[in-house]
Amino acid sequence: MLLVIYFLLFSFVRIAATTLDTIALGQFIRDGQIVVSAGEVFEMGFFSPGKLRSRYLGIWYKRDTTDRSVVWVANRDTPISDSSGVLSISGEGILVLMVNSSNDIVWSSSKASRAPQNPVAVLLDSGNLVLKDDHDDNDNNNPDKFLWQSFDYPSDTLLPRMKIGRNFVTGLDSFLSSWKSADDPSQGDFTLWIDPEGFPQMVLKMGNSTQIRLGSWNGLHFTGLPQLKPNPDNTLVFVLNEKEVYHKYEIRNSSLLVRLVLDPFGIVERFTWRYRTSSWAQINAVVLDGCDNYALCGSNAGCNISNTPQCECLTGFVPKSLGEWNQLDWSGGCVRRMPLNCKNGDGFLKYEAVKLPDTLNCKNGDGFLKYEAVKLPDTSYVWFNKSISLIECKKSCSNNCSCIAYASLDVREGGSGCLLWFRDLIDIRELAEGGQDLYIRMAVSELDNIEARRHPNKKKQVIIIVTCIISAIFGVLVFGWIVYMWKKKLRSQGSRKDDTELPIYDLNSVADATNNFSNKNMLGEGGFGPVYKGTLMDGQEIAVKRLSKCSGQGMEEFKNEVVLIAKLQHRNLVKLLGCCTEKDERMLIYEYMPNQSLDYFIFDITRREILDWSKCIQIIRGIARGLLYLHQDSRLRIIHRDLKASNVLLDNDMNPKISDFGLARSFGGDQTEAETNRVVGTYGYMSPEYTIDGIFSVKSDVYSFGVLVLEIISGKRNRGFCHSDHNLNLLGHAWRLWNEERAVELIDKSLDYSAASSEILRYIHVGLLCVQQGPEDRPNMSTVVLMLGSEGSLPQPKQPGFFSERNMPESDSSSSKHLSSSTNEVTISLLQPR
Ligand SMILES: *[C@@H]1O[C@H](CO)[C@@H](O)[C@H](O)[C@H]1NC(C)=O
Ligand SMILES: *[C@@H]1O[C@H](CO)[C@@H](O)[C@H](O)[C@H]1NC(C)=O
Ligand SMILES: *[C@@H]1O[C@H](CO)[C@@H](O)[C@H](O)[C@H]1NC(C)=O
Ligand SMILES: *[C@@H]1O[C@H](CO)[C@@H](O)[C@H](O)[C@H]1NC(C)=O
Ligand SMILES: *[C@@H]1O[C@H](CO)[C@@H](O)[C@H](O)[C@H]1NC(C)=O
Ligand SMILES: *[C@@H]1O[C@H](CO)[C@@H](O)[C@H](O)[C@H]1NC(C)=O
Repeated sequence: MLLVIYFLLFSFVRIAATTLDTIALGQFIRDGQIVVSAGEVFEMGFFSPGKLRSRYLGIWYKRDTTDRSVVWVANRDTPISDSSGVLSISGEGILVLMVNSSNDIVWSSSKASRAPQNPVAVLLDSGNLVLKDDHDDNDNNNPDKFLWQSFDYPSDTLLPRMKIGRNFVTGLDSFLSSWKSADDPSQGDFTLWIDPEGFPQMVLKMGNSTQIRLGSWNGLHFTGLPQLKPNPDNTLVFVLNEKEVYHKYEIRNSSLLVRLVLDPFGIVERFTWRYRTSSWAQINAVVLDGCDNYALCGSNAGCNISNTPQCECLTGFVPKSLGEWNQLDWSGGCVRRMPLNCKNGDGFLKYEAVKLPDTLNCKNGDGFLKYEAVKLPDTSYVWFNKSISLIECKKSCSNNCSCIAYASLDVREGGSGCLLWFRDLIDIRELAEGGQDLYIRMAVSELDNIEARRHPNKKKQVIIIVTCIISAIFGVLVFGWIVYMWKKKLRSQGSRKDDTELPIYDLNSVADATNNFSNKNMLGEGGFGPVYKGTLMDGQEIAVKRLSKCSGQGMEEFKNEVVLIAKLQHRNLVKLLGCCTEKDERMLIYEYMPNQSLDYFIFDITRREILDWSKCIQIIRGIARGLLYLHQDSRLRIIHRDLKASNVLLDNDMNPKISDFGLARSFGGDQTEAETNRVVGTYGYMSPEYTIDGIFSVKSDVYSFGVLVLEIISGKRNRGFCHSDHNLNLLGHAWRLWNEERAVELIDKSLDYSAASSEILRYIHVGLLCVQQGPEDRPNMSTVVLMLGSEGSLPQPKQPGFFSERNMPESDSSSSKHLSSSTNEVTISLLQPR
């Protein structure tokens, strides 16, 4: 009994299920009846769109009960006015939709190529309504068995696995066509096609004319439709073979319900079903802009929506009619400025001769200009080959004079395949994403022009570089020869000369002179070691610089260098008397300067009184001349690298003498700039490029000089300067006053500037020029000497480097430094991490 009930129940369910998704011969579907696919995904039945009373037969997602967005309509152009529509399979084996009241056939499926024996219509879970032979019952996925399927005749909706394209065997075109309006399913203005001409592309047509070319397939997406690209949920498929060309998309997770719709306004939109809200959500719409209008700019022009006007001839092309073009009528397009060299017939030989494939340019012929990130031009007339590489593609294009452009067919994996254009290039636009490279043929002379316009200085630069290299080589040879001759001379003259030119002091006498280097005799400590005062047996006073032992230099090199330094003789340089090199001691013996160093005077309120303006001038000019000698006039080019007030000594007549020069590094006359791992210098006097990048040049000394000038005039230290109004350092303060035309306020009160204020202002001006941020802006020392001595007009200074204490590196950050507690000024020497 139970079994019987069970059996009845089971068979009922089974019958219900089969009858629901299938229409057999002799069965009818009347208005009001619903066909449901086996998995209950889709439904088919009669509906009235919007507020209309007309009845249409359509298919929709079963879940979509509220909106009922119909995905397919059978009788879209022939509505039934009442509810007497009947769908059945006719005796000929086709689906027919009739009006029972009048027996009119309003719609029928097209005749199949073969006659069915026992036709049935089935609504599949894909939303496809298929007509097939009943004995193929279990094979719902093989389209070859279908006599007819609704998927071949889309309405405005592309469902997953539905194809648009052309079947070359049957000649059937499947395309989307919009509804006329939201409540009128009849065929509207817009259609979305795969145009099989040339290399197939997707086009949106309005009526018969191409409105928008969505472009050819590049392996990932249609070139003009980068928005619709594969994502984790779906895959896009494009197939092109002898039998057919089509595009479709597939959904990985079948519980995801999606539809792509061409709406009545020609906009392609994608929707996904939101289970939570039971409604459709638009995931993306193909947003188009003016540049997407097909051939807006005419031939050989590109469209860039960010430009006004948005159309521009391709590089090397000019408007065919300038007048029309300027009136924003771009339809005439552009033509080549310079004809191609390659003429039909002779091109092949030319390219053979110059091996074009390896080089972009080819002498006596044409080359290719690369455009990046563009939507490829219309491919209706291209030649293509899916298997050849880009290099072979280029070869093919250059070997045929009619070929005017080429590009990769497939952008995946670095590009493959080949597209060749033989006609004017139409409908190119810039693409923010998903654009491709396009190579356009140009006469080589035009390419040269373009290159020259893009890099106007390149030729000049090449000439300059070549000249520089040649003169550098020449300079090195000459210098090498000089050094060689000099060394030879030195060797041949023996140590006798050595001794006479540079007296060697013995350690004992130096120790005696300095009270055995007692602290009482110490004058100070610089970056290279302490300095002691000494008195020799004959009464001569000397200053002894005892160099730190950590120098990596060998003794012989040290002597050589000292000899060089000793040859630097100038009124404004401290004189080197000799050296002492015993027991790995290295000492330099200088003349003694009784008046101490400049900082002893300028930063002291009472001692400053001694320095009137004429003395200041004398000191500043003296330092400038000494520095100029080091930079230019000496046989060696010396960059001091640690010029500061405490390194300027004063003799009895208050003449400045620069000390400690040549110790940091001396090098050949050609070199003007070098990078160093070891930064030697004193914060406050070090230029930004030296402090930060370790790049020193004569201009870093100029910077230090500028600081010194401002310090002398203001009587304030640059480092440690403070002011109640701001936290700028001395340079910043001077710069500020200068810009506010209050530079007089910078001048120290002890200077009686009433007589010479304009001259003092000039010196401030020069100081500011010397401390400018950019080394290239700073004058060199010869200019400085001229500026200080003349009254000509000066350029306006730019912002100084390090004008605020805050943007100076803290001295604490140095990795190694020499500190001296006796002075509050510290010479640092740090290793830059490089
Ligand atoms: C057509 O209409 C007639 C009369 O109203 C009715 O008897 C018949 O069943 C209808 N046919 C179908 C297929 O509904
Ligand atoms: C579109 O083309 C077809 C066939 O070429 C033609 O019959 C029809 O008149 C054209 N329609 C328009 C609007 O030009
Ligand atoms: C498919 O999607 C549904 C709903 O979004 C989700 O619950 C399910 O886990 C997914 N299945 C797979 C295999 O990803
Ligand atoms: C494409 O190029 C390959 C290799 O050169 C060639 O074998 C093939 O025939 C070409 N295909 C077409 C359609 O020209
Ligand atoms: C160049 O290509 C055109 C178009 O494909 C073809 O008609 C012509 O024969 C080719 N010329 C040469 C020299 O290969
Ligand atoms: C388009 O124009 C903008 C603005 O002028 C420019 O930055 C951009 O590089 C242009 N794009 C192309 C592909 O030329």
